[in-house]
Amino acid sequence: MTPFPHLAVPPRRWIGAVLTLTLALPGAWAADTSATEQLARWSAQAGQPGQPERGRQLFTQRHGGEWSCASCHGNPPTAQGRHASTGKPMEPLAPAFNPKAFTDSAKVDKWFRRNCKDVLQRECSAAEKADVLAWLTRLSR
Ligand code: HEC
Repeated sequence: MTPFPHLAVPPRRWIGAVLTLTLALPGAWAADTSATEQLARWSAQAGQPGQPERGRQLFTQRHGGEWSCASCHGNPPTAQGRHASTGKPMEPLAPAFNPKAFTDSAKVDKWFRRNCKDVLQRECSAAEKADVLAWLTRLSR
């Protein structure tokens, strides 16, 4: 017996179709979220609202390693940053200064994972990400 007899198209084809659509629409894939949405997402996961002051501390202090988040993103991250090892210029991380920041959830996840490992030698918790976003979204012109 097939697992989904009521579906005319086998489920594997559906997955294929969805994947094809996703890959064919990089634009739609890229701008799928916002800084406010990300703040809400991490706060909900953490079960508490992000705290800007804690976020500022996490971002500007070193955590046993060579770098803080600010080493690359700047302090405050409202102007172009400079990569601490490659020297490559980077767009400001604070959303009020960079409309593209936090608009792609895959990018947000990828860089949080990678950068937290570089700076804290572990992944950041949902509460820590909520704190950082609470601070970043408060930085305004
Ligand atoms: C060694 C340099 C470096 C350090 C240190 C660093 N980052 Fe980054 N970060 C980058 C680069 C490079 C990007 C990608 C920039 C781009 O492509 O626009 C990035 C992107 C990000 C993004 C994605 C932004 C977006 O547009 O969605 C987040 C979130 C982020 N970093 C958070 C952090 C946090 C939090 C820390 C500290 C725990 C940190 N970063 C430390 C280099 C760094």
